[in-house]
Amino acid sequence: SDLLAFATGLPKAELHLHLEGTLEPELKFALAERNGIPLDQTSVEEVKATYDFTDLTSFLAIYYPAMNVLQTADDFHDLAWAYLQRASADGVVHAEMFFDPQAHTSRGVPFETVISGYRRAAVRAQSELGVSAELIMCFLRDFSAEYAMATLMEALPYRSWIVGVGLDSDERGNPPQKFAAVFARAKAEGFFLTMHCDIDQPGSIDHIRQVLTEIEVDRIDHGTNIVENPELVALVKERGLGLTCCPVSNSFVTEQMKSDEIVALMREGVRVTINSDDPAYFGAYASANYVALAEQADLSLADLVLLASNSFEASWLTPRRRAEYL
Ligand code: ADE
Ligand code: ZN
Repeated sequence: SDLLAFATGLPKAELHLHLEGTLEPELKFALAERNGIPLDQTSVEEVKATYDFTDLTSFLAIYYPAMNVLQTADDFHDLAWAYLQRASADGVVHAEMFFDPQAHTSRGVPFETVISGYRRAAVRAQSELGVSAELIMCFLRDFSAEYAMATLMEALPYRSWIVGVGLDSDERGNPPQKFAAVFARAKAEGFFLTMHCDIDQPGSIDHIRQVLTEIEVDRIDHGTNIVENPELVALVKERGLGLTCCPVSNSFVTEQMKSDEIVALMREGVRVTINSDDPAYFGAYASANYVALAEQADLSLADLVLLASNSFEASWLTPRRRAEYL
């Protein structure tokens, strides 16, 4: 459509993208074959038929087992490189990409294998695509704070390859404050901080309050439930914090894309950004997320320009690099 061409043509930053969530079935088959790993499904259609999510938990139950095909540094490189080529064609000129080292170290893949493969793709994106790509290391919140701290320690030799740290996976019963010491240490090491506050989780507002007042994050991933609390909305505006919203993802893990909430926050002047989250699973890369929101909420082209501009404002680019895009 014209709208898709317009959204694709907008230079934009992607700030909420899980590299493991870019594993398309075709690449999954190729890696399984390369590594001699048997799969339960034999066709792309069969794989997609398993993408039957009703909430975050049912999504994660499909998501983690799929990662078994990722074994070597080349595998991690190939995954990130496939995403970066696709993102570049989609108008993404800067990507801050989440990765989940514990989804791999917990099954015996060394940390160094994961990060060296991803880093090679990020460097290659700059030189071959002109896309700047950074890595954000996420801790899995359903594992212990001790395991998160050990992962942070393991990452310190690679400090310059990692722009920030995040928190993802199953939020129920795993509040931000469980990881307060880990994030305090990460901040002391100079990492930017962000955390997922997923859509409609038990304790959403309380978790958003914790990330703002106890963790003092630099950004919030999703965070859309903040719309219920004017005091917290005022606080994110005052601090100029970005929210990384993911409309199509929302429509898979809840019953709707939460367009009214996202647009209300945008109209209030919150730095709302639009992102794809796990595009291989939710079937929409960045531009398609802009279009889905625009069609649902009847946004103008000027609104889309604002959302793209917000993506650079909320990024962790240096002020000088940011200015090149604004
Ligand atoms: N891991 C990958 N995608 C996620 C999401 N949307 N929420 C929490 N953890 C995730
Ligand atoms: Zn996410």
